[in-house]
Amino acid sequence: MKRIFSGVQPTGNLHLGNYLGAIRNWVQLQKDFDCIFCIVDLHALTLPQDPKELRAQTREVTAAYIAAGIDPEHCVIFNQSTVPGHAELAWLLGCLTPLGWLNRMTQFKEKAGKHREEAGLGLYSYPVLMAADILLYKATHVPVGEDQKQHLELARDIAGAFNRRYGVEFFPLPEPQIFGAGTRVMSLRDGTKKMSKSDISDYSRLNMTDDAETIALKIKKAKTDPQPLPATEKEAEARPEADNLLGIYASLAGLDKPAAIARFAGKNFSAFKDELAGVAGDVLGKIGAEMKRLLADPGYIDGVLHRGAARANAIASPILGEIFDIMGLLRP
Ligand code: TYM
Repeated sequence: MKRIFSGVQPTGNLHLGNYLGAIRNWVQLQKDFDCIFCIVDLHALTLPQDPKELRAQTREVTAAYIAAGIDPEHCVIFNQSTVPGHAELAWLLGCLTPLGWLNRMTQFKEKAGKHREEAGLGLYSYPVLMAADILLYKATHVPVGEDQKQHLELARDIAGAFNRRYGVEFFPLPEPQIFGAGTRVMSLRDGTKKMSKSDISDYSRLNMTDDAETIALKIKKAKTDPQPLPATEKEAEARPEADNLLGIYASLAGLDKPAAIARFAGKNFSAFKDELAGVAGDVLGKIGAEMKRLLADPGYIDGVLHRGAARANAIASPILGEIFDIMGLLRP
């Protein structure tokens, strides 16, 4: 059976990168896979969160999934903390994960920065919880943006370590699905930095809740260079801001990158930015308006999460039971 698991952290400022790199691809994949989409609230706790905000953002990510086109009747949508198996399996898998593997994780190095000694244990073991998320459902495919590739390689290594240690073929090795023109959307202020929820400048990203006017303003202020738009892919690659904006345009307009480059080759940025603002405003504006409509009825959102939790638990519980048996944990 082909099963997808993926998730987003409810840490605020859902942005165009989350949409193009992940959520939009899920919408396409839901037709062909058994899908489980999670709001990973336990992962959010690896950095300090305001409890009230965390609750609000959990509902906001849920609304974003549905507004983007994920069908909550067909797919399982739930928040991670409602299925205890995630934390339990993370412990079990943590006992099989060598520290050396975790020491290689670049995201921990970036997030902990110079304050490694003060960083929490949860931030360090974050990728083990992510492996548990996926393996708890024996997911076979994991659609994510480029920045999650290393974590997925670790999840495959952990699955392999479990199978070898116990001499079983229990966990499938989950396959990363990283595709489309938006696998790595960069900041609007610096084409060498990833667009991120945590960037202090709101002008660095297009949020999924921005209205058309805000989107137009952010695109107008987006960093560019003084030359006209590049004429070839090679030329674009050497100009990170132009390359990023062209990639975003291609992705939103449903073109491939070379077609977007050909369309604007040699033109000036202001005409291009007007078109980009138009297409971005259309796509995100509709999703943002639908999110607002859904969020006006928190009872509906909570109902989706409640049903999702029951469905997720029903899939996870027997799998966790088998894992306990394989590992020799007695359940009298
Ligand atoms: P998170 O919340 O940082 O991001 C959610 C998804 O958005 C993608 N993404 C991007 N894609 C393109 N360009 C960008 N600038 C950009 N920024 C973010 C991410 O790759 C991700 O797909 N650890 C994960 C959440 C997670 C998870 C999982 C994912 C927890 N458990 C199990 C898959 C399977 C994270 O922090 O994503």
